Amino acid sequence: MGHRVRKAVFPVGGMGTRFLPATKAMPKEMLPVVDKPLIQYAVEEAAAAGVEHFIFVTGRGKNALEDHFDYAPELERMLEERHKDEALDAVRRFMPRSGQISYTRQTEPLGLGHAVWCARHLVGGEPFAVILPDDLILADEPVLKQMTDVYDPLGGNLVAVQDVPREHTFRYGILDIETDDGKLAKAKGLVEKPKPADAPSTLSIIGRYILDPVVFSPLGRRMIGAGNEIQLTDALATTLAVVPFHGLRFEGVRFDCGDKVGFLQANVAFALHRPDLADDVRAALRDLVC
Ligand code: G1P
Repeated sequence: MGHRVRKAVFPVGGMGTRFLPATKAMPKEMLPVVDKPLIQYAVEEAAAAGVEHFIFVTGRGKNALEDHFDYAPELERMLEERHKDEALDAVRRFMPRSGQISYTRQTEPLGLGHAVWCARHLVGGEPFAVILPDDLILADEPVLKQMTDVYDPLGGNLVAVQDVPREHTFRYGILDIETDDGKLAKAKGLVEKPKPADAPSTLSIIGRYILDPVVFSPLGRRMIGAGNEIQLTDALATTLAVVPFHGLRFEGVRFDCGDKVGFLQANVAFALHRPDLADDVRAALRDLVC
Protein backbone atom coordinates (compact mmCIF):
# COMPACT_ATOMS: atom_id res chain seq x y z
CA MET A 1 0.00 0.00 0.00
CA GLY A 2 2.96 2.34 0.60
CA HIS A 3 1.87 5.83 1.44
CA ARG A 4 -1.47 5.90 -0.32
CA VAL A 5 -3.83 8.45 1.19
CA ARG A 6 -7.29 6.91 1.37
CA LYS A 7 -8.93 9.02 4.04
CA ALA A 8 -9.56 12.74 4.46
CA VAL A 9 -10.78 14.64 7.49
CA PHE A 10 -12.89 17.76 7.07
CA PRO A 11 -13.16 19.87 10.24
CA VAL A 12 -16.55 21.50 9.72
CA GLY A 13 -17.64 22.30 13.24
CA GLY A 14 -16.73 25.99 13.28
CA MET A 15 -19.30 28.58 14.30
CA GLY A 16 -18.82 30.83 11.27
CA THR A 17 -19.40 33.92 13.38
CA ARG A 18 -17.78 36.13 10.73
CA PHE A 19 -20.64 35.36 8.34
CA LEU A 20 -23.59 35.95 10.63
CA PRO A 21 -26.47 36.18 9.98
CA ALA A 22 -25.89 33.92 6.91
CA THR A 23 -24.53 31.18 9.17
CA LYS A 24 -27.18 31.38 11.87
CA ALA A 25 -28.97 28.22 10.75
CA MET A 26 -26.44 26.87 8.25
CA PRO A 27 -22.79 25.85 8.59
CA LYS A 28 -20.34 28.21 6.90
CA GLU A 29 -19.09 25.34 4.76
CA MET A 30 -22.46 25.43 2.96
CA LEU A 31 -21.80 28.98 1.70
CA PRO A 32 -21.68 28.81 -2.10
CA VAL A 33 -18.86 29.99 -4.28
CA VAL A 34 -20.70 30.64 -7.56
CA ASP A 35 -23.14 27.72 -7.27
CA LYS A 36 -21.35 25.09 -5.19
CA PRO A 37 -20.91 24.99 -1.42
CA LEU A 38 -17.38 25.26 -0.06
CA ILE A 39 -17.57 21.76 1.38
CA GLN A 40 -18.25 20.27 -2.04
CA TYR A 41 -15.13 21.85 -3.49
CA ALA A 42 -13.19 20.29 -0.62
CA VAL A 43 -14.72 16.83 -1.03
CA GLU A 44 -14.23 16.88 -4.81
CA GLU A 45 -10.59 17.87 -4.32
CA ALA A 46 -10.07 14.92 -2.00
CA ALA A 47 -11.78 12.54 -4.42
CA ALA A 48 -9.56 13.83 -7.26
CA ALA A 49 -6.55 12.87 -5.14
CA GLY A 50 -7.80 9.31 -4.71
CA VAL A 51 -9.45 9.65 -1.30
CA GLU A 52 -12.14 7.04 -0.72
CA HIS A 53 -13.32 7.81 2.80
CA PHE A 54 -14.54 11.27 3.80
CA ILE A 55 -14.62 11.99 7.52
CA PHE A 56 -16.59 15.03 8.64
CA VAL A 57 -15.98 16.40 12.12
CA THR A 58 -19.12 18.43 12.66
CA GLY A 59 -20.41 20.60 15.43
CA ARG A 60 -23.66 22.14 14.44
CA GLY A 61 -25.78 22.39 11.32
CA LYS A 62 -24.89 18.78 10.63
CA ASN A 63 -28.19 18.18 8.86
CA ALA A 64 -27.55 20.50 5.94
CA LEU A 65 -24.14 18.90 5.35
CA GLU A 66 -25.48 15.36 5.58
CA ASP A 67 -28.41 16.15 3.32
CA HIS A 68 -26.12 17.76 0.77
CA PHE A 69 -24.24 14.50 0.30
CA ASP A 70 -27.34 12.35 0.24
CA TYR A 71 -29.69 11.34 -2.56
CA ALA A 72 -32.66 13.62 -3.07
CA PRO A 73 -35.18 11.36 -4.85
CA GLU A 74 -38.05 13.87 -5.02
CA LEU A 75 -35.79 16.59 -6.41
CA GLU A 76 -34.23 14.24 -8.96
CA ARG A 77 -37.63 12.94 -10.08
CA MET A 78 -38.94 16.47 -10.52
CA LEU A 79 -35.88 17.51 -12.54
CA GLU A 80 -36.21 14.38 -14.68
CA GLU A 81 -39.89 15.03 -15.39
CA ARG A 82 -39.16 18.61 -16.38
CA HIS A 83 -36.16 17.57 -18.51
CA LYS A 84 -33.81 19.82 -16.54
CA ASP A 85 -30.80 17.78 -17.58
CA GLU A 86 -28.14 20.28 -16.58
CA ALA A 87 -29.58 20.77 -13.12
CA LEU A 88 -29.94 17.02 -12.70
CA ASP A 89 -26.33 16.54 -13.67
CA ALA A 90 -25.24 19.20 -11.15
CA VAL A 91 -27.10 17.37 -8.39
CA ARG A 92 -25.74 13.94 -9.33
CA ARG A 93 -22.23 14.83 -10.46
CA PHE A 94 -20.55 14.13 -7.18
CA MET A 95 -22.28 11.70 -4.94
CA PRO A 96 -20.18 9.58 -2.58
CA ARG A 97 -21.39 6.00 -2.39
CA SER A 98 -22.98 4.53 0.70
CA GLY A 99 -20.46 4.15 3.50
CA GLN A 100 -17.92 6.54 2.00
CA ILE A 101 -18.82 9.39 4.35
CA SER A 102 -18.61 9.21 8.13
CA TYR A 103 -19.67 11.89 10.56
CA THR A 104 -18.41 12.44 14.05
CA ARG A 105 -19.16 15.31 16.39
CA GLN A 106 -16.76 17.62 18.13
CA THR A 107 -18.77 18.25 21.26
CA GLU A 108 -16.53 21.00 22.66
CA PRO A 109 -15.18 23.87 20.51
CA LEU A 110 -11.55 23.41 21.57
CA GLY A 111 -9.80 24.18 18.29
CA LEU A 112 -8.52 22.60 15.07
CA GLY A 113 -6.19 20.15 16.83
CA HIS A 114 -9.05 18.84 18.90
CA ALA A 115 -11.30 18.54 15.82
CA VAL A 116 -8.70 16.40 14.05
CA TRP A 117 -8.22 14.29 17.19
CA CYS A 118 -11.98 13.58 17.20
CA ALA A 119 -11.43 11.65 13.94
CA ARG A 120 -8.74 9.34 15.38
CA HIS A 121 -10.82 6.15 15.50
CA LEU A 122 -12.15 6.69 11.99
CA VAL A 123 -8.64 7.33 10.64
CA GLY A 124 -6.89 4.45 12.39
CA GLY A 125 -3.19 3.90 11.76
CA GLU A 126 -2.61 5.18 8.23
CA PRO A 127 -1.56 8.52 6.68
CA PHE A 128 -4.57 10.77 6.13
CA ALA A 129 -5.43 14.13 4.61
CA VAL A 130 -6.95 17.13 6.36
CA ILE A 131 -8.71 19.75 4.26
CA LEU A 132 -9.89 23.08 5.65
CA PRO A 133 -12.76 24.07 3.34
CA ASP A 134 -12.27 27.79 4.13
CA ASP A 135 -9.06 27.68 2.13
CA LEU A 136 -10.31 27.48 -1.42
CA ILE A 137 -7.68 27.12 -4.11
CA LEU A 138 -8.12 27.78 -7.80
CA ALA A 139 -5.68 25.43 -9.50
CA ASP A 140 -5.32 23.46 -12.72
CA GLU A 141 -4.39 20.41 -10.69
CA PRO A 142 -6.17 20.06 -7.34
CA VAL A 143 -3.74 20.90 -4.55
CA LEU A 144 -4.25 17.69 -2.59
CA LYS A 145 -3.37 15.78 -5.77
CA GLN A 146 -0.19 17.87 -6.12
CA MET A 147 0.61 16.76 -2.57
CA THR A 148 -0.20 13.05 -2.91
CA ASP A 149 2.01 13.04 -6.02
CA VAL A 150 5.07 13.99 -3.95
CA TYR A 151 4.11 12.34 -0.63
CA ASP A 152 5.68 9.02 -1.54
CA PRO A 153 8.66 8.75 -0.81
CA LEU A 154 8.68 11.65 1.69
CA GLY A 155 6.23 10.18 4.19
CA GLY A 156 5.75 11.85 7.56
CA ASN A 157 3.83 15.11 7.51
CA LEU A 158 3.35 17.21 4.39
CA VAL A 159 1.47 20.51 4.26
CA ALA A 160 0.66 23.03 1.54
CA VAL A 161 2.58 26.27 2.06
CA GLN A 162 2.87 29.73 0.59
CA ASP A 163 4.90 32.80 1.41
CA VAL A 164 2.83 35.56 3.00
CA PRO A 165 3.69 39.18 3.79
CA ARG A 166 5.52 39.25 7.13
CA GLU A 167 2.78 41.38 8.70
CA HIS A 168 0.36 38.45 8.22
CA THR A 169 2.27 35.72 10.03
CA PHE A 170 -0.04 36.04 13.05
CA ARG A 171 -2.80 34.40 10.99
CA TYR A 172 -0.97 31.17 10.14
CA GLY A 173 1.13 28.24 11.21
CA ILE A 174 4.69 29.18 10.20
CA LEU A 175 7.61 26.91 9.27
CA ASP A 176 11.09 27.20 10.74
CA ILE A 177 12.99 26.06 7.67
CA GLU A 178 15.88 23.59 7.69
CA THR A 179 16.30 23.17 3.92
CA ASP A 180 14.41 24.66 0.99
CA ASP A 181 14.75 23.92 -2.72
CA GLY A 182 12.21 26.56 -3.71
CA LYS A 183 9.43 24.01 -4.13
CA LEU A 184 9.74 21.77 -1.12
CA ALA A 185 10.86 23.02 2.30
CA LYS A 186 11.85 20.78 5.19
CA ALA A 187 10.95 22.21 8.60
CA LYS A 188 12.89 21.92 11.84
CA GLY A 189 10.29 23.86 13.80
CA LEU A 190 6.72 25.13 13.60
CA VAL A 191 5.01 28.06 15.32
CA GLU A 192 1.29 28.78 15.35
CA LYS A 193 0.34 32.38 14.63
CA PRO A 194 3.59 34.13 15.64
CA LYS A 195 3.86 37.92 15.75
CA PRO A 196 5.70 39.19 12.65
CA ALA A 197 8.80 39.97 14.72
CA ASP A 198 8.90 36.43 16.18
CA ALA A 199 8.12 34.49 13.00
CA PRO A 200 10.98 32.14 11.99
CA SER A 201 10.05 32.64 8.30
CA THR A 202 7.11 33.81 6.20
CA LEU A 203 6.34 30.35 4.87
CA SER A 204 2.77 29.67 5.99
CA ILE A 205 0.62 26.59 6.27
CA ILE A 206 -2.45 26.65 4.03
CA GLY A 207 -5.35 24.32 4.86
CA ARG A 208 -4.14 21.12 3.20
CA TYR A 209 -2.30 18.47 5.20
CA ILE A 210 -1.19 14.88 4.75
CA LEU A 211 -0.45 13.59 8.22
CA ASP A 212 1.19 10.62 9.82
CA PRO A 213 -1.09 9.12 12.48
CA VAL A 214 1.65 9.66 15.13
CA VAL A 215 0.10 13.13 15.49
CA PHE A 216 -2.84 11.69 17.42
CA SER A 217 -0.64 10.97 20.41
CA PRO A 218 0.37 14.62 21.12
CA LEU A 219 -3.12 15.77 20.15
CA GLY A 220 -4.47 13.53 22.90
CA ARG A 221 -2.36 15.44 25.43
CA ARG A 222 -4.59 18.48 24.84
CA MET A 223 -1.85 21.11 24.93
CA ILE A 224 -3.38 24.57 24.92
CA GLY A 225 -1.74 26.95 22.45
CA ALA A 226 -2.40 30.18 20.55
CA GLY A 227 -5.85 31.65 21.09
CA ASN A 228 -6.34 29.26 24.04
CA GLU A 229 -7.07 26.46 21.61
CA ILE A 230 -5.68 22.98 21.03
CA GLN A 231 -3.60 23.68 17.93
CA LEU A 232 -2.78 21.14 15.23
CA THR A 233 0.47 23.03 14.53
CA ASP A 234 1.69 22.52 18.13
CA ALA A 235 1.02 18.78 17.98
CA LEU A 236 2.81 18.57 14.63
CA ALA A 237 5.80 20.43 16.11
CA THR A 238 6.19 17.70 18.74
CA THR A 239 6.37 15.01 16.02
CA LEU A 240 9.36 16.65 14.26
CA ALA A 241 11.78 14.38 16.10
CA VAL A 242 9.88 11.29 14.98
CA VAL A 243 8.78 11.92 11.39
CA PRO A 244 9.90 14.42 8.73
CA PHE A 245 7.84 17.54 8.07
CA HIS A 246 7.71 19.12 4.61
CA GLY A 247 5.90 22.08 3.12
CA LEU A 248 5.02 22.03 -0.59
CA ARG A 249 4.69 25.32 -2.43
CA PHE A 250 1.61 24.48 -4.47
CA GLU A 251 0.56 25.75 -7.90
CA GLY A 252 -2.66 27.75 -7.62
CA VAL A 253 -4.30 30.81 -6.13
CA ARG A 254 -5.62 30.53 -2.60
CA PHE A 255 -8.63 32.41 -1.29
CA ASP A 256 -9.40 32.76 2.41
CA CYS A 257 -13.13 32.14 2.39
CA GLY A 258 -13.27 32.57 6.16
CA ASP A 259 -12.94 36.27 5.44
CA LYS A 260 -15.65 38.33 3.72
CA VAL A 261 -13.38 39.98 1.17
CA GLY A 262 -11.58 36.69 0.43
CA PHE A 263 -14.93 34.97 -0.02
CA LEU A 264 -16.20 37.62 -2.44
CA GLN A 265 -12.92 37.54 -4.33
CA ALA A 266 -13.21 33.75 -4.63
CA ASN A 267 -16.69 34.11 -6.09
CA VAL A 268 -15.46 36.53 -8.73
CA ALA A 269 -12.34 34.51 -9.56
CA PHE A 270 -14.20 31.20 -9.85
CA ALA A 271 -16.96 32.81 -11.93
CA LEU A 272 -14.36 34.28 -14.29
CA HIS A 273 -12.99 30.75 -14.76
CA ARG A 274 -16.36 29.35 -15.74
CA PRO A 275 -16.78 29.26 -19.52
CA ASP A 276 -20.57 29.56 -19.15
CA LEU A 277 -20.32 32.69 -16.97
CA ALA A 278 -17.03 34.46 -17.66
CA ASP A 279 -18.20 36.93 -20.33
CA ASP A 280 -21.37 37.98 -18.51
CA VAL A 281 -19.57 38.32 -15.19
CA ARG A 282 -16.80 40.41 -16.74
CA ALA A 283 -19.39 42.72 -18.32
CA ALA A 284 -21.34 42.98 -15.07
CA LEU A 285 -18.20 43.82 -13.11
CA ARG A 286 -17.26 46.47 -15.65
CA ASP A 287 -20.71 48.05 -15.22
CA LEU A 288 -20.24 48.11 -11.46
CA VAL A 289 -16.76 49.51 -11.13
CA CYS A 290 -16.44 51.84 -14.13
C1 G1P B 1 -5.55 27.17 10.76
C2 G1P B 1 -4.23 26.61 11.29
C3 G1P B 1 -3.05 27.43 10.78
C4 G1P B 1 -3.10 27.50 9.26
C5 G1P B 1 -4.47 28.05 8.80
C6 G1P B 1 -4.59 28.01 7.30
O1 G1P B 1 -5.76 28.43 11.36
O2 G1P B 1 -4.26 26.60 12.71
O3 G1P B 1 -1.85 26.84 11.19
O4 G1P B 1 -2.05 28.32 8.81
O5 G1P B 1 -5.54 27.29 9.36
O6 G1P B 1 -5.77 28.61 6.88
P1 G1P B 1 -7.20 29.15 11.35
O7 G1P B 1 -7.33 29.83 10.03
O8 G1P B 1 -8.23 28.07 11.54
O9 G1P B 1 -7.17 30.12 12.48
